[in-house]
Amino acid sequence: MCNLFLKQTIESECTAVCSQLGAGVSLPGVVAAKCGAQVILSDSAELPLCLENCRRTCEVNELPNVLVVGITWGEVSPDLLLLPPLDIILGSDVFYEPEDFENALVTSPSS
Ligand SMILES: C[S@@+](CC[C@H](N)C(=O)[O-])C[C@H]1O[C@@H](n2cnc3c(N)ncnc32)[C@H](O)[C@@H]1O
Repeated sequence: MCNLFLKQTIESECTAVCSQLGAGVSLPGVVAAKCGAQVILSDSAELPLCLENCRRTCEVNELPNVLVVGITWGEVSPDLLLLPPLDIILGSDVFYEPEDFENALVTSPSS
């Protein structure tokens, strides 16, 4: 992923629209945003502290344009439906509970 974003950044072509699911500390989303991508971080709408972590990560990394939204895997919410068409869906360390697989895939909108 880093190679893709860095290549596009060096070539001044990074215009990707990305959403990170289950973002937590949000490192992949931060890298993408620093490379120029339009990034939307999401974590469970039921875990406000995780969403606050995402916002804090954006603050300390000086990324005021990164959106943070509550999206719970498997739930079709207004925030999910309002996502713009996405080029890339980022996920890191999110596929470890088999019972979450289907919900996480349902929540990964195709563009
Ligand atoms: C192991 S952490 C990984 C966090 C981050 N992606 C990273 O690599 O550091 C899993 C993340 O998935 C989020 N998560 C767990 N269940 C979720 C659900 N049902 N809907 C959305 N996010 C969820 C957690 O809040 C947490 O931030």
